[in-house]
Amino acid sequence: MHIQSLFIDFPARALLLLSLVGVAVAQDRTTEQGEAQISECTPYYYAPVSTQIHNFPPIWTPATILANDTAAQAKWNSIAASIPTNILPKGQPNGSTINVTYDTVNDPDCWWTVHQCTTPKLAGLPMDIASVPEPKTMGYGFDDGPNCSHNAFYDFLESQNQKATMFYIGSNVMDWPLEAQRALADGHEISVHTWSHRYMTSFSSEDAFAELYYTMQAIKLVTGVTPTSWRPPFGDVDDRIRAIANALGLQTIIWKYDSNDWKNGVNGITPQDVDADYQYFIDNVTSGTFNTVGGIMLTHELNNYTMSEAIKYYPQLQAAFTHMVPIGVALNKTQPYVETNYSLPTFSQYVAGQTNVSGGSNSSSGGSSSGGGSTSGGSTQSGGKNSALPAVIAGGLGPLLDHEP
Ligand SMILES: *[C@@H]1O[C@H](CO)[C@@H](O)[C@H](O)[C@H]1NC(C)=O
Ligand SMILES: *[C@@H]1O[C@H](CO)[C@@H](O)[C@H](O)[C@H]1NC(C)=O
Ligand SMILES: *[C@@H]1O[C@H](CO)[C@@H](O)[C@H](O)[C@H]1NC(C)=O
Ligand SMILES: *[C@@H]1O[C@H](CO)[C@@H](O)[C@H](O)[C@H]1NC(C)=O
Ligand SMILES: *[C@@H]1O[C@H](CO)[C@@H](O)[C@H](O)[C@H]1NC(C)=O
Ligand SMILES: *[C@@H]1O[C@H](CO)[C@@H](O)[C@H](O)[C@H]1NC(C)=O
Ligand SMILES: *[C@@H]1O[C@H](CO)[C@@H](O)[C@H](O)[C@H]1NC(C)=O
Ligand SMILES: *[C@@H]1O[C@H](CO)[C@@H](O)[C@H](O)[C@H]1NC(C)=O
Ligand SMILES: *[C@@H]1O[C@H](CO)[C@@H](O)[C@H](O)[C@H]1NC(C)=O
Ligand SMILES: *[C@@H]1O[C@H](CO)[C@@H](O)[C@H](O)[C@H]1NC(C)=O
Ligand SMILES: [Zn+2]
Repeated sequence: MHIQSLFIDFPARALLLLSLVGVAVAQDRTTEQGEAQISECTPYYYAPVSTQIHNFPPIWTPATILANDTAAQAKWNSIAASIPTNILPKGQPNGSTINVTYDTVNDPDCWWTVHQCTTPKLAGLPMDIASVPEPKTMGYGFDDGPNCSHNAFYDFLESQNQKATMFYIGSNVMDWPLEAQRALADGHEISVHTWSHRYMTSFSSEDAFAELYYTMQAIKLVTGVTPTSWRPPFGDVDDRIRAIANALGLQTIIWKYDSNDWKNGVNGITPQDVDADYQYFIDNVTSGTFNTVGGIMLTHELNNYTMSEAIKYYPQLQAAFTHMVPIGVALNKTQPYVETNYSLPTFSQYVAGQTNVSGGSNSSSGGSSSGGGSTSGGSTQSGGKNSALPAVIAGGLGPLLDHEP
């Protein structure tokens, strides 16, 4: 059976490296002045990234373990035996499923792309998170960030004292590290959304590992924390990919509702269609669908339209749902990172008004939500100041994958 999929062009991207000796201009989100210097979506120099970028796969290209990366190789070696070898890669990284043969009736691999399967058939794997347990609660989150123009959106969320789960693409984190830091400073939860945003089930197990591993490393490098959850681009996950994520300590988060915001302008999809998808979700609250269990809808930090749409619908979502919380908060997952010195509030704390996180020190990873962009930081950021090292350009690698969830 032919499996319907999205055929999307992924332009190959060359990593743009500019070594400018003596011109290490480090923008700094820890001060208002530093923040004011950042012109949105203009590439900037950031030494903590520049000094490490050679230890990561090229930005926006499918990840593989770097030949000299003994730590990554050792990690892969330590989990490889637990990854099934009888579940083969499916299709192409661009989503093409030409020539793929698969038993879609029995769906033996619990391949979400076929029937939205979320209960693994391989023993030992947890269920995907596709809903949140709290009734009339929305697990609030956004894919594909950090976007270089997200300040207006994050300012809006801050003004509402609203936190969300941000599913970050590793390549975007390397391009826009200061924007990634803002998520943590603002009290959002950061989750992994792979390195190059391709169809994960197409990759060899080692390459799928690399997509997750290097995104975890990028988030750690830039924000100081290592996520313990991830969301598959396009929802494309099967039991082999789940096993790899699970071995890396990543909980798989998916959705049951899709705003289709990312599709605006694609294949005749109009803003009215996206409005209808938001409305459908809201109507389902009113009709009682979420009276015993809450909902998750796919929405994006992809561009001005998707973020504006999120702002437009925020009041209606707020009115419809009793609570809107980051997905980790809905799960009472107070330690969303490997590092234990950074916490999320419990669901009870959050809904009682304590929406911010508690950092383990004054060095930023935590910090109050009230400071917004001015409280960003972390030990990684100090390297951005007064560095005499040549810098690598971050960001500005061209328009992102506009047509992807
Ligand atoms: C996807 O990739 C395959 C293999 O490289 C190629 O044959 C196909 O044309 C691509 N499809 C699209 C829509 O780019
Ligand atoms: C790995 O090799 C790259 C060049 O391919 C080099 O830039 C980098 O520093 C090396 N990393 C380590 C940890 O040796
Ligand atoms: C699909 O299979 C046909 C027949 O074997 C082959 O000619 C074609 O190249 C295959 N296409 C892809 C994208 O693998
Ligand atoms: C969601 O709402 C739509 C439209 O109001 C309705 O047709 C559908 O049955 C609802 N879904 C569920 C699961 O209640
Ligand atoms: C971020 O959003 C801006 C504004 O819509 C858009 O122009 C840009 O392409 C987006 N960047 C990425 C990397 O998606
Ligand atoms: C969208 O773009 C307009 C015009 O540049 C800007 O005023 C507005 O703040 C942007 N909205 C978001 C959510 O980024
Ligand atoms: C979260 O904790 C609250 C009590 O603090 C409890 O009522 C709720 O059931 C818990 N939710 C989950 C998903 O554990
Ligand atoms: C942030 O958290 C601290 C302690 O964890 C609390 O005292 C403070 O009131 C919180 N601020 C907001 C805006 O929730
Ligand atoms: C924490 O605050 C103290 C006192 O302000 C300061 O001396 C110290 O450098 C700070 N530590 C970090 C890691 O920022
Ligand atoms: C948390 O601990 C890690 C090391 O485990 C450290 O690198 C980081 O700076 C710490 N962050 C805070 C906010 O204390
Ligand atoms: Zn995505």
